[in-house]
Amino acid sequence: MVVQTIGVVGCGQMGAGIAEISLLAGYAVIIYGRNEDLRPACRGRVQQSLQRAVSRGKLEGGEAEKALARLRGVAHLAELAAADLVIECVAEDLALKQSIFRSLDSLLRPEAILASNTSSLSITEIALATRRPDRVLGMHFFNPAPVMRLLELVRGLHTSDETLAIARKVGAYLGKITVTAPDSPGFIVNRLLIPYIVEAIGAYEAGLGEAAVLDASVRLGMGHPLGPLALADLIGLDVTLAIADTLYQSSGNPYFKAPALLRRMVAVGRLGRKTGQGFYQYQR
Ligand code: CAA
Repeated sequence: MVVQTIGVVGCGQMGAGIAEISLLAGYAVIIYGRNEDLRPACRGRVQQSLQRAVSRGKLEGGEAEKALARLRGVAHLAELAAADLVIECVAEDLALKQSIFRSLDSLLRPEAILASNTSSLSITEIALATRRPDRVLGMHFFNPAPVMRLLELVRGLHTSDETLAIARKVGAYLGKITVTAPDSPGFIVNRLLIPYIVEAIGAYEAGLGEAAVLDASVRLGMGHPLGPLALADLIGLDVTLAIADTLYQSSGNPYFKAPALLRRMVAVGRLGRKTGQGFYQYQR
């Protein structure tokens, strides 16, 4: 099977970023936003990012226009029926993802592939909502999707070799380096990343130092582009908390246990960059 049209479900940071790189790789893209009102916003988000690339001289104006001409924003899942591969990028909620996969399964051709960009949920469990678990896998991109080179492919218990091979090929066209991970809590990256962020928030809460001091220590001492608290703000504190909770529940590993401060910040809406305030303040 040759993938020509990619469907994206959800148009937050990840959905919009994945749509953008898919367009630039030459795919036709159909992006689904939850309701009518989101449609222009969805398209606008991708358009803005492409325009930024043009103004920085990374992309020709004509290329951005051609890419946008291949993008269709839709407000009904049924309009994804023509997609050969759908990448779901909605909130980290198993019931929500399963309901989307159930609907997509009944709408798409039997050979189409269904992928989830989940950071922490089980691909095997998501696939159980479909009658094609062999054609379901995880395609886990990193934020910002246009910049981060890695794509984790997650193999559920039923995922076929053919499905993985097709996803690997798409990943290469998108300019990503792929690694294949088993369907175990956190896959590869979040198994390593979440305990580190959780520990940093716990240490900050315990008064180890100012956020800027902890982050600068990691940046300057270890050469990371961002310290752990700035990174949590980039990922989104709500997303970080949802991942930590899922990983803690599914593994019982105390390294994933969310600190009380993270839960409190999410409860009051300090979600990081997207709300303008997290461990740092941001201009919006
Ligand atoms: N879209 C496109 N390009 C972008 C971009 C975006 N959203 N954000 C940054 N860039 C590009 C910039 O254009 C710039 O490119 P050039 O150098 O070629 O001009 C480059 O990235 C660097 O950007 P900036 O100079 O503006 O800013 P920076 O130096 O602070 O870099 C960053 C920004 C690339 C995000 C950098 O801070 C970084 O690498 N951070 C680490 C991010 C990370 O670890 N992400 C993984 C999070 S974990 C995850 O996503 C998985 C999960 O499940 C939780």
